[in-house]
Amino acid sequence: MSDLIMDGSSPPQPPPQALLERLKDYGQEDAFALWNELSPEERLLLVKDIESLDLSRIDRIIRCSIRSHGLPAAAIEPVPESNVSTVEERTLEERERWWKLGLKAISDGKLAVLLLSGGQGTRLGSSDPKGCFNIGLPSGKSLFQLQAERILCVQRLAAEAMNDGSTRSVQIHWYIMTSPFTDEATRRFFESHKFFGLDADQVTFFQQGTIPCVSNDGKFIMETPYRVAKSPDGNGGVYAALKSSKLLEDMSMRGIKYVDCYGVDNALVRVADPTFLGYFIYKGVSAAAKVVRKAYPQEKVGVFVRRGKGGPLTVVEYSELDPSLASAINQQTGRLRFCWSNVCLHMFTVDFLNQVANGLEKDSIYHLAEKTIPSVQGHTIGYKLEQFIFDAFPYAPSTALFEVLREEEFAPVKNANGSTFDTPDSAKLLVLRLHARWVVAAGGFLTHSVPLYATGVEVSPLCSYAGENLEPICRGRTLHAPCEITF
Ligand code: UD1
Repeated sequence: MSDLIMDGSSPPQPPPQALLERLKDYGQEDAFALWNELSPEERLLLVKDIESLDLSRIDRIIRCSIRSHGLPAAAIEPVPESNVSTVEERTLEERERWWKLGLKAISDGKLAVLLLSGGQGTRLGSSDPKGCFNIGLPSGKSLFQLQAERILCVQRLAAEAMNDGSTRSVQIHWYIMTSPFTDEATRRFFESHKFFGLDADQVTFFQQGTIPCVSNDGKFIMETPYRVAKSPDGNGGVYAALKSSKLLEDMSMRGIKYVDCYGVDNALVRVADPTFLGYFIYKGVSAAAKVVRKAYPQEKVGVFVRRGKGGPLTVVEYSELDPSLASAINQQTGRLRFCWSNVCLHMFTVDFLNQVANGLEKDSIYHLAEKTIPSVQGHTIGYKLEQFIFDAFPYAPSTALFEVLREEEFAPVKNANGSTFDTPDSAKLLVLRLHARWVVAAGGFLTHSVPLYATGVEVSPLCSYAGENLEPICRGRTLHAPCEITF
């Protein structure tokens, strides 16, 4: 007779047979390895955790991703300059035409913006969602607030541009993707700031999925004896999440045709940019991206490339680009061969978003990122599986790249102050310097008691989106930097 029965307690319950068999089908039965050591409550948690997983889908993703990880990818080719709408070749007339075309589509309610906000600010050293971060501007505004106010500004510009005597108000719907790690704090932040002046109904939060972390032979890593280690499925998880939360239908119902999709951590991001939208509509493509010229070979940015000779447009992420290719020089131009950097700002048609989720799901190829993962065995080396937002590009029937100037539109906030690059301080200075130039161009004067290279002025996005309409506020006025210009 066993000890358990002799001491009066009940015999150990085996794991639920059907669930164990299902795990065995996919070679993941080790998830139950510590079953006999678990309390009844922990067993329940483990069963629930495993039941919440779509095992056949996850198995397909793990197999396809590990298999493709080992295969040599087709060689990459630079994107020819002729495939990019460069700043140099853009005329004033074109810019004005695209701006108006974009504003018209916005006033017709055809544009939505989609913020990718599921990432954790690990590199930034903050446990809050990155968008809550205050980079130290005179106004103390968070990244979320800067973006919300740019949306408010574009709404006003679009309403003014209607010029048809109507008093119709313009609303740009804002979809915000969170993850289990950022969802609650993000919603709370928006509520406590009264949605920064936006209508609460024009903001929709939705969550991206997570996916188990695996060892190099594809086995689940257990975070605790009763929970599988999981991580967000990457910002490309947006396609599956839009589909599963039925938001593509929601967009169609609202009459939305175009979606401007962007990363949270760029203090200069031009959310809902009418010029980019106008260009996108003029080109009639399914997918487009803003690009800047890469600043230096090791810059942590993905680069747009062609996969194979004349192959599809895609991005190679900085973590996956061979260092010799990252620093290769085009002998004719003296510039980097792979120079078109992704700033994580993409425009898609809703039609394309409807198609791409199926293509990505069918191929099931995720990027494998080797990471140290906290587990029952201590810190284990394993893989996190992620899709990237730009993985959609090879599926697009037509694409376009739109160059913008980094000093106008790219102020990344990636690392904590004290690091060499892409810190809150460096982003703050980029904002202050750009806005100081706007103010001077609008006839204002600046005085400053700190060196000008270390200061500037901040223009509230409620006053100006891209430097327009500042003359009435600035002409002949002397401003002492640092300060914020607002109404
Ligand atoms: C990203 C781009 C990179 C680009 C750079 C520019 C991707 C995959 N990489 O790199 O090509 O050059 O920005 O600054 O887009 N996010 C989620 N869910 C996740 C992971 C991330 O929503 O699971 C969001 C983040 O909150 C952020 C954005 O995606 O808004 C970018 O993610 P991050 O991990 O910061 O990408 P980078 O490595 O900086």
